[in-house]
Amino acid sequence: MTRTLFTNIGLLVTNNPSEAVRAGGTQTPTGEIENAAMIVDNGLVAWVGRAADAETGGGFDIDAVVNLHGNTLIPGFVDSHSHIVFAGDRAGEFAARMAGKPYAAGGIRSTVAATREASDDELRERLHALLTEMHAQGTTTVEIKSGYGLDVATEERLVRLAREVTEEVTFLGAHVVPAEFTDNREDYVQLVIGEMLEKCAPHAKWIDVFCEEGAFTVEESRRILNAGKESGLLPRVHASQLGPGEGIALAIQVGAASVDHCTYLTDADVDALAASQTVATLLPGVEFSTKQPYPSGRRLIDAGVSVALSTDCNPGSSFTSSMPFCIAVAVREMGMTPAEALWSSTAGGAQALQRTEVGKISVGMRADLAEITAPSYVHLAYRPGVPLIGRVWKDGELIA
Ligand code: NIG
Ligand code: FE
Repeated sequence: MTRTLFTNIGLLVTNNPSEAVRAGGTQTPTGEIENAAMIVDNGLVAWVGRAADAETGGGFDIDAVVNLHGNTLIPGFVDSHSHIVFAGDRAGEFAARMAGKPYAAGGIRSTVAATREASDDELRERLHALLTEMHAQGTTTVEIKSGYGLDVATEERLVRLAREVTEEVTFLGAHVVPAEFTDNREDYVQLVIGEMLEKCAPHAKWIDVFCEEGAFTVEESRRILNAGKESGLLPRVHASQLGPGEGIALAIQVGAASVDHCTYLTDADVDALAASQTVATLLPGVEFSTKQPYPSGRRLIDAGVSVALSTDCNPGSSFTSSMPFCIAVAVREMGMTPAEALWSSTAGGAQALQRTEVGKISVGMRADLAEITAPSYVHLAYRPGVPLIGRVWKDGELIA
């Protein structure tokens, strides 16, 4: 058992206002404490307070000391939406979009072709490379979706490979209808809710559907989500990415933990989200990379909706692994304050994954931590593109 004192923390973001206030910090959702310290015991946060109180406050024997040199310490980012098990590259599509071509969901099929061809080891190597990028940018929890297999064997491989690296695995057999089922989409829906679900469910926690014109209709999506629930999976939904639709209402009806994209929001969507437990997950990398309009985080937060921010890291619509990039764009383009963007990337992501022991630095939580080599997290947006993430810990162990 190792007890580590983290000290000389210039600014500590706890995301726990009541605990912060007890240590003279702010009562804001980010619960910030200046000149702070914390103690990690066996991978969990054991004490949080002022650096001046560290020696008496904990009453612990300390085995090791980590000096933050006045830097900022935040909860590790919770990236609650990614598609990082795939092969191939679609840089050409990106370049064409920048020259004016629209994003089309059909591009998914080219990644499917490359992924089906790749061996487990090739997929694993690429997955690990992307995870390493994520860790280096402060992410300590990541959700990973399947969806680039779209046949039973490949989907099963993708959820199995994802499960090797995270507890947050999502079965997304309903990403698009694969080319070989274009003329008999009902057969594909039957496959997804039949054999594919049966093979994938044991490796997954979540079921997801791309509910959108060009992907799955609301009724197909409802059947798929309900079948997943019957197999013990929890629902989450991709909706309103390419235009307004009924996907957000469906997500709320099925009790989805999160509805993701929300690029095109109607007033009714915002009201329904505000009255629900469903988190709205915004993915600024997608609008950046597809030239679609940014949704207003401000509008959602002002209406009382819980907002998460995620990368949606995937080769088609958003090939960034960087939560700091997403924060910078959310602050610049989505009307979110730096504090809101930070909360949404940490506690908001945890809420979108229904996790209670990550996303906060408070007593009893996992010691998943990221150092920002700056006096404040505001610098993540103020100094975009600058590598400001220093050391990163997961369960109290240094991972980057
Ligand atoms: O979340 N919207 C559907 N799926 C991905 C895009 C996948 C792709 O273009 O390869 C997304 O944006
Ligand atoms: Fe996605």
